[in-house]
Amino acid sequence: MTENGHLPVLPTEVIEFLDVGREGIFIDCTLGLAGHALAVLERNPRVRLIGLDRDGQSLEIARDRLEPYAGRVTLYQADFKDLAKLDLPFAKVRGILVDLGISSFQLDSPERGFSYMHEGPLDMRIDQRTKTTAEKILHTYPEQKLAEMFAKYGELAQTRRLAREIVHLRKLGRLETTGDLRVLIEQIYRWRPQRGRIHPAAKAFQALRIEVNGELEGLGEFIDGTVRLAAKGTRFVIISFHSLEDRIVKRAFHALARPDEGAPILEVLTKKPVMASEAEVAANSRARSAKLRAAERV
Ligand SMILES: C[S@@+](CC[C@H](N)C(=O)[O-])C[C@H]1O[C@@H](n2cnc3c(N)ncnc32)[C@H](O)[C@@H]1O
Repeated sequence: MTENGHLPVLPTEVIEFLDVGREGIFIDCTLGLAGHALAVLERNPRVRLIGLDRDGQSLEIARDRLEPYAGRVTLYQADFKDLAKLDLPFAKVRGILVDLGISSFQLDSPERGFSYMHEGPLDMRIDQRTKTTAEKILHTYPEQKLAEMFAKYGELAQTRRLAREIVHLRKLGRLETTGDLRVLIEQIYRWRPQRGRIHPAAKAFQALRIEVNGELEGLGEFIDGTVRLAAKGTRFVIISFHSLEDRIVKRAFHALARPDEGAPILEVLTKKPVMASEAEVAANSRARSAKLRAAERV
C-alpha cells in the first residue's frame, strides 16, 4: 500500500500500452493520487505529464507527491470531458490515460460519503464545487426514477421496493446519513455476510455515485472527440470498473476502428479487455473488476 492507501491498478500494463519510452507529453485524465503518473514520470526523464482531476482534494495530494517532478508536470482541476477546452498541444501528446471511477482515498474518506462502510453525509460528489449530492437525489427524485437508477447503475433486484422505502423514510426525516441508507438496504435485502457475495449497499452506493457525478454521460463522445484531436501514434488506455462503462469504451473504440464510412482512425490493441492477475487482486482488491482497453490513433 502507498502511504495514502492507494495502489494504481494494472501498473505494468498501463506503462506498456502507453508506450512510455517515447519522448513527449502524456495526459493522465484521472490523476487521483498520482500512482500511475509517478510510474510514467519515473520511467522516462524525457516525458512531460499533464494531469487532470475533478477532485480538488486529491489534486492537492497528487501535487505534493509529484513535487520531485514539478518541472515536468502541469495539473488542472478539471473534468476530463472538457479536455478539448484546455487547448493542449495535441501534436506532442503520445499517450492518454483514463482510470475511471474513484480512488481508495476517496472511498475511505468518511466525510465524502462514498462508502457504506463509514458513517458520513450522503454527499458522493467527486467535485465538491458541484451542487448535486446523493442526499439531494434521494430526497427529490420521484420513486420511479430512483428505482430505475438503482436497477441500471447498481444492477440490483427489488429496486421498486427500495425506492418506495426511500420515499417513506425521507418523509419521516430518517434518511440523512450513509448509515441510514445502509441499514435500510440491509433490511430490504435481508443481508447476511456470505463469502463471495457483494454487499447490496455497495451496488446501491455505486449507482448513486454514478448518478451524482454523471459518470457515464458523455463518455463515448469524449473518447470520439479526443481520438479525433490526437496525433497519429497517440496511445489511449482506458480502465473501467463497471460493465456499462466498459461497454461504452468498447463501442467507442470499435466505431473509430471500423467506421461505417471512411478510413479507420484507431487501431484497437486489446481484442479482449485486459484484467488483473490473481496476485494483483490479492494485493489490491480494487483491481478485481478493472478492465483495461487500449488503442492507437492511426
Ligand atoms: C480510480 S482514481 C485514479 C487513480 C490514479 N490513476 C492513481 O493511480 O492514483 C479516479 C480519479 O479520477 C477522478 N475523476 C473521476 N471522474 C473524473 C472526471 N470526469 N474528470 C476528471 N477526474 C475524474 C476521481 O476524482 C479520482 O481521483
